[in-house]
Amino acid sequence: MIETIQWIDGAVVMIDQRRLPLEEKYVTCRSFQEVATAIRDMTIRGAPAIGVAAAMGVALGVLHAAESGLDAQMEEICATLAATRPTAVNLFWAIDRMKRVYASVAGQPIGEIRRRLVEEALLVREEDIAICRAIGRNGASLVPDRKTVLTHCNAGALATAGYGTALGVIRAAVEAGKRIDVFADETRPFLQGARLTVWELQQDSIPTTLITDNMAGHFLKSGRIGCVVVGADRIAANGDVANKVGTYSVAVLAKENHVPFFVAAPISTLDLTLASGEAIPIEQRAAAEVTHVYGRQMAPAGTAVMNPAFDVTPARYVTGIITERGVARAPYEESLRKLVG
Ligand code: MRU
Repeated sequence: MIETIQWIDGAVVMIDQRRLPLEEKYVTCRSFQEVATAIRDMTIRGAPAIGVAAAMGVALGVLHAAESGLDAQMEEICATLAATRPTAVNLFWAIDRMKRVYASVAGQPIGEIRRRLVEEALLVREEDIAICRAIGRNGASLVPDRKTVLTHCNAGALATAGYGTALGVIRAAVEAGKRIDVFADETRPFLQGARLTVWELQQDSIPTTLITDNMAGHFLKSGRIGCVVVGADRIAANGDVANKVGTYSVAVLAKENHVPFFVAAPISTLDLTLASGEAIPIEQRAAAEVTHVYGRQMAPAGTAVMNPAFDVTPARYVTGIITERGVARAPYEESLRKLVG
């Protein structure tokens, strides 16, 4: 299994997802600031993986914090990590979880506080792998046999602590004996599909074909695609789903062609404080991601650029939301609340 993120000898080690698949290099973060930079520059990316990185970042920060003024330092550590990327709610979920643990050990010796925070960060990572496997188990039966699964971006082992959400469903379907193959959208501009999804599925020998984003409609119309499975960065109470930009177009084309469109995500990706997807903050990224490919300029100098990293798919396009606790179906206001409990 690919090791996306690990805690090794008091440091956070991540596979560098900016270099994949051409280079398999690991980055070691020795401070919370380095973890924050790694999240912002997408050394590590994908909602659940960002959550694990944030939890480990908090633990690392407190490990190196001075004993006096610990509360203020904890606040600074959390604020720095929270300011990295705005859309994936798992980031804030993980920071809140670490804050709760910190509050529960208030007044205890510093060694005990540090031990508990490291322990909790490791638990967040371990749980994430188990959650992905449960998502896979819950989703495998929804994948039609002898068909192609279309996916967008990378919601795989690289986007989680391991196994993946959308790719977890695909893995579980293959493990259950289904004879499926995968179409991976390349996912402009950061190319998570071309670089990461194809590489990751190749490691598992799952037959995968790369298509450009604008080919999705053509293949959805062809009858070849049995279902679409994607991940999510934040899901509102009404079932609207924020995911990698381009997901919305795929969902509309899927509905037009009567192809089921599934979202696979952990409960920690639900944000029931938001009534609809309109309130989900959408990250705007640097223009150079659009004008340049691998550092090479493709567009004229001075080109005006828009680069929203995510879009919101309205719930009416979503056939089901596959979580570790079961599959939610419309009306999502009810089914999601029921799953959260
Ligand atoms: O910008 P990224 O690469 O962090 O975006 C990732 C996605 O949009 C994934 O589909 C989402 O985080 C789900 S990952 C299991």
